[in-house]
Amino acid sequence: MKNFPRLLAATAVAFLGTASVYVGTASASKPNPNNGLTTARPDSGAPNSGVVTDASGQIIKYGSSSISYQTPAQMLGVSQSQLEHLGKALYMQNCSSCHGEAANGVPYAGTPGAYPNLVGLGPAVVDFWIESGRMPAANPTTVQAVRAKSVISHADALAIAAWVNSLQAGYPLVPQVNLSNASISNGAALFALNCAACHTITGGGDALANGTYAPSLHKIPKNQVVEAIRTGPGNMPMFTGNLSDAQVRDIVAYVTGPISHPQNDGGLGLGGLGPVAEGFIGLAIGVGVLALLGFWVGERNNG
Ligand code: HEC
Ligand code: HEC
Repeated sequence: MKNFPRLLAATAVAFLGTASVYVGTASASKPNPNNGLTTARPDSGAPNSGVVTDASGQIIKYGSSSISYQTPAQMLGVSQSQLEHLGKALYMQNCSSCHGEAANGVPYAGTPGAYPNLVGLGPAVVDFWIESGRMPAANPTTVQAVRAKSVISHADALAIAAWVNSLQAGYPLVPQVNLSNASISNGAALFALNCAACHTITGGGDALANGTYAPSLHKIPKNQVVEAIRTGPGNMPMFTGNLSDAQVRDIVAYVTGPISHPQNDGGLGLGGLGPVAEGFIGLAIGVGVLALLGFWVGERNNG
């Protein structure tokens, strides 16, 4: 057993080599999100440009050629009062048991803020949570609402958003993005800067603190990506003045394009770390195995 220390050393070299790669990739700082259940953020974003009002002076539309924000009634081309009437009935049926008949929230046993106040949140917030299937919540006690297939239609979701907004007008209105002049390369750079820390550079998603996670961004409809960016669901920060509508459009083009349909350039897919990091892992493991083999062969000759 006199060669045991050498074997130990070789194992240590292999271990350190591999570990250093993990330390290197894990050091990118992760945010420390708050409790996922207290998410209320009234009025995230205000009308910026191209404001259009109706006869009574109410804002029904604003935005630019990149993103147009409209009231639900304006989007569907129906009357405001009709839509609110339908929305109120749908809300009472699907939402009031948790969020209360006045939509002002109800504390859940021992978890204040578990049923958030929806008043003044803006139609884009309500629309996002319904159309991403998060609401009505299947299990309201989970640390974070889960994306699912929506059980409520697009028009019904807009009707509910219209009624909630009639209680107290909020922004943003519901966005519609136009990708025709989008720059995917600009979107990729902005994504790396603003989103990849949580969702990873491949958009595959990742765990955050306290049991929460940034979900996968693969195959999310384009207008829901705008809604998420502009309203910041759950533990995601909202991006308002710091990203222009044109920049958001570019990010959406990247998220619904190359990220949703990734080109597979081969490789092992070690968590999609990318060729350089994956190469280092290969190197560390390979060198470690070779070192062990070398020591084993050496031991034989000496014996
Ligand atoms: C079974 C209870 C339940 C029902 C029913 C329900 N919700 Fe919720 N809702 C919750 C809980 C719990 C949260 C907090 C989830 C989180 O933050 O992850 C929430 C969060 C939300 C949010 C996010 C609030 C914010 O501040 O970001 C919106 C918007 C919302 N619900 C709308 C609705 C609408 C509209 C309906 C009806 C279609 C509905 N909910 C039905 C329990 C419920
Ligand atoms: C601090 C971490 C963080 C950053 C930065 C971040 N997100 Fe998020 N994102 C989250 C979390 C957490 C959720 C899930 C929220 C929930 O369901 O409670 C989320 C949800 C989403 C969703 C909804 C996906 C679904 O399952 O419905 C989209 C789309 C999205 N993010 C896009 C982006 C984009 C684009 C950026 C950059 C502009 C970005 N995010 C930046 C943490 C982050």
